Amino acid sequence: MSGRVAVVRGLGGALPEKVVTNEYLSSIMDTSDEWIRRRTGIGERRHSDDSENTSVLATTAAVRALESAGIELGSASSTAVGLLIVATSTPDKVCPATAPKVAANLGLNGIAAFDVSAVCSGFVYALATASWAIGSGAVDSALVIGADTFTRLLDPTDRSTAVIFGDGAGAAYLTAGTRDEPGAILASTLHSDGDGEALIQVPHQGAFFEMQGKEVFTQAVSAMSDSVETVLANVGWAASDVDSLVAHQANLRILNTVASVTGIPESKAEVHLDRVGNTSAASIPLAMTDAGTKGHRSAGDKVILTAFGGGTTWGAVAMTWPEISVVDPH
Ligand code: UT7
Repeated sequence: MSGRVAVVRGLGGALPEKVVTNEYLSSIMDTSDEWIRRRTGIGERRHSDDSENTSVLATTAAVRALESAGIELGSASSTAVGLLIVATSTPDKVCPATAPKVAANLGLNGIAAFDVSAVCSGFVYALATASWAIGSGAVDSALVIGADTFTRLLDPTDRSTAVIFGDGAGAAYLTAGTRDEPGAILASTLHSDGDGEALIQVPHQGAFFEMQGKEVFTQAVSAMSDSVETVLANVGWAASDVDSLVAHQANLRILNTVASVTGIPESKAEVHLDRVGNTSAASIPLAMTDAGTKGHRSAGDKVILTAFGGGTTWGAVAMTWPEISVVDPH
């Protein structure tokens, strides 16, 4: 096995200004703070306005990830980033992709830039892809951004989705390094099953987002648990070795069930959904950013990321916690 791997050197997040509380949603639809907290763990979420589209949030998160790695925007950054991937299912436009726009916003015109559309699994897909590109020697560095503004596609009267989703972006900056460095990406596994495409979908242009919540819940638990076990076996870690489980922030009950199925203590599951809801592709990098700003992670900690989303798609990544400081996006 080659000694060259991708290493996370910076993390950053971005959130829209507008906070939407459970109390507010209870005033416009038949729901309650009690139901939302008990069934999902969510307390509030952010809604983007017209000035905070996916590329804007993605750009802010990317700037913060570069700054967290000690790189200021400007002449240095154009040589510091070889590849930019935006994981999003809510691009600014149906076409072209959002990634070239984000690259241009950062002054990175000319670099390889593309979108990954894997809904809530998008960040795990993009991170694994970037790690393959760096590990192979094709590029020396990458920005991986998860950014979504799903609230624009929600039926405002559908309480089964409106209480869950929020908008945001999170980013990781990676460069080539070695497996023993804090932040190293050590293993990844990615999967899909297109027979489940109707479980989470926007069926056509102009339609609202739809989700079959109960079935998604069941599949998410089993797919994420299997993926976690796959990457644990690949890196030779026991569940009890894991310091931090960063699972897609869809539902607190899902986070706790994945922990219990895989044998990882519930206390190791990072919880960020209470403040931002389900931010789709942004949820894992935002939860990592949150863990970094809470200061309860140390360089070299053993970290497992896992997600399940539309497609259906799912996967996991095993990595160590990077040696960085992170800015709080709240
Ligand atoms: O991001 C991609 C991955 N997504 C996920 O992983 C989401 C997975 N699914 C879930 O998190 C849960 O299924 C939901 C949070 C979406 C729904 O929770 P649930 O416990 O599965 O609720 P349910 O759909 O089975 O509904 C139970 C009851 C129903 O009432 P009846 O039929 O029992 O009278 C619903 O009408 O709760 C009702 N309900 C609500 N009540 C108050 C559904 N949504 C609400 C609501 N407020 N917002």
